[in-house]
Amino acid sequence: MNEATEHLVAVGRLDDIPRQGARVVRTAFGDLAVFRTADDGVFALRNACPHRGGPLSEGIVHGRSVTCPLHNWVISLETGEVEGPDHGCTAVIGVSVADGVVRLDLSRLAAAMAVAAE
Ligand code: FES
Repeated sequence: MNEATEHLVAVGRLDDIPRQGARVVRTAFGDLAVFRTADDGVFALRNACPHRGGPLSEGIVHGRSVTCPLHNWVISLETGEVEGPDHGCTAVIGVSVADGVVRLDLSRLAAAMAVAAE
């Protein structure tokens, strides 16, 4: 394991996440939503919409975005930025997939969650 991978934590298999769906990973710093796109892209965000904290894991995944289930804000899976209708962002968590195993980079999670919660 090198410096780039030493903070990666295995959280499950890619096959356990439905295409255009998500799974929740519970951490000491709060829940994360791990998304799988139609083309097998994998992304992780803090599982709280920047609007009013809606559960993004229950949103609709389309392209590289998710639409929040509560008030339909659209959030980029790549940047965590709101694409519309307003603005804001949620924490993006680093993801790695190797041999079908999804790993999250939790090394900066506490700081990322604190910034996103502001
Ligand atoms: S809580 Fe997500 S759009 Fe309102």
